[in-house]
Amino acid sequence: MNNNQVSLDTLVSLAKRRGFVFQASEIYGGLAGFWDYGPYGVELANNIKASWWHFFVRQQRDIVGIDGAIIQNPKLWKASGHVEGFNDPLVEDLKTHKRYRADHLAGVDTSDLEQLTDLLKNKKSPDGNELGPVRLFNMMFKTHVGVLEGEDNVVYLRPETAGAIFSNYKNVLDTARVKIPFGIAQIGKAFRNEISPRDFIFRVRELEQMEIEYFTNPADAQKHLERLKKLYWQWLIELGLKTERMEWRQLPPESRAHYSADNWDVEYKYFDGKPKELGGIANRTNYDLTRHAQLSGKDLSYFDETTRERFIPYVIEPTIGVDRVLLAILESAYHEEEVNGETRVVLKIAPEIAPVRVAILPLSKKSELSALSGEVYKKLVQETHWNIEYDETQSIGKRYRRQDEIGTPYCVTIDFESLQDHAVTIRHRDTMEQNRVQIKNLKSELSM
Ligand code: GAP
Repeated sequence: MNNNQVSLDTLVSLAKRRGFVFQASEIYGGLAGFWDYGPYGVELANNIKASWWHFFVRQQRDIVGIDGAIIQNPKLWKASGHVEGFNDPLVEDLKTHKRYRADHLAGVDTSDLEQLTDLLKNKKSPDGNELGPVRLFNMMFKTHVGVLEGEDNVVYLRPETAGAIFSNYKNVLDTARVKIPFGIAQIGKAFRNEISPRDFIFRVRELEQMEIEYFTNPADAQKHLERLKKLYWQWLIELGLKTERMEWRQLPPESRAHYSADNWDVEYKYFDGKPKELGGIANRTNYDLTRHAQLSGKDLSYFDETTRERFIPYVIEPTIGVDRVLLAILESAYHEEEVNGETRVVLKIAPEIAPVRVAILPLSKKSELSALSGEVYKKLVQETHWNIEYDETQSIGKRYRRQDEIGTPYCVTIDFESLQDHAVTIRHRDTMEQNRVQIKNLKSELSM
């Protein structure tokens, strides 16, 4: 099979069959835009997040992390502009009352009501019915704090993780050993009441973001944008994404927020071959800190001791969704190969982020082999902290196929000879080659 043509249906089916992603509350008919990660999905997602954190927080001396609350004082979302402006253009089928993203129906990237109304003037809904007027729909989920439900205690589930970073800018500056330029990173859930969630985990209502707000002297902002853009690319390559499927696209001024000085999307050609937003990087100027200073009444300016300048820092924001990265990894890793007249499905996921790093597969369930295999398993888990799977059921061929489909880079088979020669066989996922190694050398062999 041409590996460039993996369809969304194929990925959805593999994800369900092999325990990566399930529909949320499936036994009750599901809920549009919500998904649950299964045993292999959660391992993969955790590995993606750990890799991001290691690359962008631990390996960068000028970036520190936080973990902010999902629910914040609603004033924060007034200052950020979300209460007023976090809207998508919506249009309704007047017969079925199904709602659609007006920009998607019109095939344009804008939320300009006049333009959309004009473009949809003579259009029908996908079901062939009349459309109502185009209007704006705020995508924040509302809830209430405390026992009473009223307008006074409305709060929002955060629509992005960035908010808590801005409100903690001064706290971090005062407590961590950082000075401008520096970044604050955060990974966490965000919630958006998307009008039409779709394409599996690509557009969801509960998503997870990995965001950095990098605070800089305005004069250096573009320099840091270019530097962080390069770092991002490097990280995506390390994850094993296909480079020929990725590209940066600079957003034209009319597609950017009014305060944005520059904005790039990193796009990935998912299943249908059309580039779609994987992540982005923006020069947000000093909009955020200026707004938070105005609404909180706190001074968020910075005095640079070296240049003797006082300024409101500019912010460069690299942001990316865990769910979209995970989908791109599945797409990049999916391969179908002919082996001895049969089709082998294999996920060629980079070993560092594979959901299962090693599978221990004894060739028999006999007690003496189980005892040795159990020891090998325990020792390897203790020494490495990898996710290691132990499986002694079914034929070895079936077990290999299963591990191939979940992307396990190494299978270790233990046979009766192992009892004598204290050696085991490593089977490599991508080449299917096998080599015999001493048990005492297993960790170093598998770490290479
Ligand atoms: N703080 C900036 C911000 O939130 P965004 O472009 O709205 O920017 C950032 O979102 C990233 O979050 C996107 O590039 C995408 O990876 C992810 N994302 C946004 N909405 C999403 C959704 N509905 N489903 C899945 N991922 C989403």
